[in-house]
Amino acid sequence: MELLGKKILLGISGGIAAYKCCELVRLYKKSGAEVKVIMTPSALNFVSPVTLSALSGNEVMINMFPEVDPNRSETVETKTWHIYTGMWADVFVIAPATANTIAKIVHGISDNFLTATVLSARSPVLISPAMDEDMYLNEATSKNVSALKELGYWVIEPESGELASGLSGIGRLPEPETIYQHTLKLLSGAKKDLEGKKILITAGPTYEPIDDVRFLGNHSSGKMGFSLAMAAAQRGADVTLVTGPTMLKTPRNVTRIDINTAEEMFNAVKDNLKAKDVVIMSAAVADYKPKSIVQGKIKKTAGNMTIETEKTVDILEYLGKNKSEYKLVGFALETENEIDYAKGKIEKKNLDMIVVNNPKVDGAGFKTDTNVITIIDNKGSQTEYPKMSKFDAAGNILDKILTL
Ligand code: CTP
Repeated sequence: MELLGKKILLGISGGIAAYKCCELVRLYKKSGAEVKVIMTPSALNFVSPVTLSALSGNEVMINMFPEVDPNRSETVETKTWHIYTGMWADVFVIAPATANTIAKIVHGISDNFLTATVLSARSPVLISPAMDEDMYLNEATSKNVSALKELGYWVIEPESGELASGLSGIGRLPEPETIYQHTLKLLSGAKKDLEGKKILITAGPTYEPIDDVRFLGNHSSGKMGFSLAMAAAQRGADVTLVTGPTMLKTPRNVTRIDINTAEEMFNAVKDNLKAKDVVIMSAAVADYKPKSIVQGKIKKTAGNMTIETEKTVDILEYLGKNKSEYKLVGFALETENEIDYAKGKIEKKNLDMIVVNNPKVDGAGFKTDTNVITIIDNKGSQTEYPKMSKFDAAGNILDKILTL
């Protein structure tokens, strides 16, 4: 009874592998979960809602607007069924997820009960794509599957083997037992240990204008800060993300504030500092800015251009000096003697913890999806981590913050 008391919402879209979901519902039920099933209209071509209703013990949801019992007065709940269903679930599993359903989810299209419920779901959403190999490897689908991950959905990679088309390749829905194990892992791993915590995170670069078209900036992609925001929100934290310019999408359940310059970031941080339990400065704030900003565009002249700069405000230092209730976490980007410099910064800036990364190490740095970090806390404990995804590194950083 590993899933006793868990509420599982299973979304089935129209692929041949939909038949495997009958077995999946049985596995969930056998281990004590309560299961509700949503089907897209095209899924009805592959499996009967009568079977799924009998197996799950609940009415299968297909229509956006359910029939209302004339003997019962209409409640808000029946009119906004998709919202309440999304709120009900501890986990929302979509299997099989067709190329079409994935594309709709990525673009926020909510034209059926399944896709509308995805938009309103507050639980983790686990998506298991299944389709023919050519459809799966098509650039549009691959982009959409990557986008799912960036948006914070959990994706089960399809398996290779014989496909419905008779061809063989990647695209098979994994066996029900495999999807069951992923669900179990997500439910037990989806710790809500940051529930009630208010966390302020900064991310990305800052752009310091030279004139109306040029700026001083750096290569930060914002991925580390966005991964922290996503991981913290998934663990139940109330997250405010102050970010410089990036191409990244806002993680689910995160309040985002966009800024451009170090000064704007400083003001946004100060404005949002109240009642925070943790502040994480993962932004690559520019250390210098042009002393004055030229109106319009500076014309090219014969000689070299010299830009006079001045220091930007050190936000981390300000936060250390004015520390109240919050724990303060800094980042250090060093290319040499990183551990010694980082230890010095803990003291100098009154930090509780520092995350060190050296952009020269393979797999670490600005543009990569991976990072190689060392975490040092104010008691002198030092932990080195191997190369891992920025999302996993974020998980380790949050685990350490809980020990402060
Ligand atoms: N930081 C900040 N405000 C700045 C510059 C940096 O709050 N104006 C923060 C970053 O968000 C990061 C930390 O300071 O958490 C470390 O930045 P880094 O550039 O590595 O170090 P500095 O302290 O600026 O020192 P140095 O450049 O001499 O290494």
